[in-house]
Amino acid sequence: MNVCIVGTGYVGLVSAACFAEMGNNIICVDVNPKVVETLEAGKVHIFEPGLEELVKRNTQEGRLHFTTDLKDGLEQSQVVFITVGTPCGADGRCDLKYVDAVAREVGQSMKSPKIVVDKSTVPVGTADHVREIIAGELAKRGEDISFDVVSNPEFLKEGDAVNDFMKPDRVIVGTEDEESAKVLRALYSPFARSREKLIVMGVRSAEMTKYAANCMLATKISFINEVANICERVGANVTEVRAGIGSDSRIGYSFIYPGVGYGGSCFPKDVKALIGTANDHGYNARLIRSVDEVNDDQKHILADKVKAYFEPQGGVQGRTLALWGIAFKANTDDIREASATEVIKDLTALGMKVKAYDPVANERAREEIGHIEGLEILESQYDVLQGADALAVVTDWNQFRNPDLDRIKALLNAPIVFDGRNLYLPERMGQAGFAYFSIGRPP
Ligand code: NAD
Ligand code: UGA
Repeated sequence: MNVCIVGTGYVGLVSAACFAEMGNNIICVDVNPKVVETLEAGKVHIFEPGLEELVKRNTQEGRLHFTTDLKDGLEQSQVVFITVGTPCGADGRCDLKYVDAVAREVGQSMKSPKIVVDKSTVPVGTADHVREIIAGELAKRGEDISFDVVSNPEFLKEGDAVNDFMKPDRVIVGTEDEESAKVLRALYSPFARSREKLIVMGVRSAEMTKYAANCMLATKISFINEVANICERVGANVTEVRAGIGSDSRIGYSFIYPGVGYGGSCFPKDVKALIGTANDHGYNARLIRSVDEVNDDQKHILADKVKAYFEPQGGVQGRTLALWGIAFKANTDDIREASATEVIKDLTALGMKVKAYDPVANERAREEIGHIEGLEILESQYDVLQGADALAVVTDWNQFRNPDLDRIKALLNAPIVFDGRNLYLPERMGQAGFAYFSIGRPP
């Protein structure tokens, strides 16, 4: 099948590479010439395990192409995916400017019937909105070319995106058109081999499914974070509580790891967007609003612990914190809405110096938050410890899980660790001579 994918970021490039791997001919379009140049040179501009080799192989074998010109892509394809960003607008609602721009260009340039597939995460009603834009542009040209707009939300997670795309739990196709459903079913058949994995539903239900899924996962995280905060106050241990509740198959173990709050380009903005959509339709989404509020507070919890610890010793001003992990989670270079940024901002605002290290996100961090006064980003996990007053662990990278405790102790001014991901056993840290503070567990 010939497919055009517009927007070559985490979702667009992964989808493109995986569709190409199954023998389809894919043309990727991105407005950013640098992105296209990089991809044409056989390199991948984002860190995503397994993606580069997939992109390289399929490019070399002639199934994957890159361009900045949407017209090129459109001409050759029956199916056009929209996979551009849908950031949070100033009012917390989803900003559709990139989706609108693609819809306009599609309407202005298409010469033959198309199935336009919205894979970006967009508020309920966006497929109708995209349909209106395309129809309006066609009318301006005096053209009457048939097209359908399908919702096909994506559920991959960064760091495991290729795997998620190749073996999805489900594929959601929102359309009322039988022909569109047939084409999408054929395109996804190598990924969703069992019939039940591909669920066809109404367009609005498909759009809502994406928000409901992300908000449910965010709810689990805010819930366990709230439980952790209560555990700290009543002398319980959230790790034990997690095992106790996760063993109930109705609850399950996943997505109930407490920490420094959820970050990333999706949960924070999607939770806010659903609150906005509900408001727009006269509904006050109280539960989802609380999920958002709990998370906003949780992002400050580690900095609060650091402040509280140093308070009796004259505060954090003039002290230095070593910080491990800037990415919003392990296995990605994405620092959008990362909790580390909040920790850094909170403490540097009080005059503390922060020396940070991330295994892959250092370069991005320099571009996006490198300007923060008092922040220094170093290239080694252990260099940041030299002369620091404490260590804070913010991202759950595997390489932080079993560190050389003697070396940490020798490099720090004093053996103090604030663990925002509960990576270490309190007993072990205590035995090794550390003052150790984690989330929802007794020190
Ligand atoms: P991204 O920022 O990584 O990539 C978006 C790309 O679109 C950029 O390369 C940008 O240059 C390009 N672009 C913008 N306007 C364009 C235009 N008019 N024409 C062509 N290209 C254009 O975004 P992402 O993280 O891949 O997210 C895309 C969408 O998918 C969002 O709606 C997001 O919520 C959703 N989503 C993301 C993930 C994820 O893990 N990142 C998972 C599921 C769903
Ligand atoms: C999330 C969803 O998992 C994907 O299904 C979805 O497609 C995607 O959002 C999206 O819509 O973009 P992602 O943001 O890549 O994927 O990462 P997650 O693994 O879900 O983690 C999100 C945040 O929650 C991270 O900051 C992570 O550290 C935090 N988290 C996750 C916890 O604090 N505790 C947990 O138990 C799980």
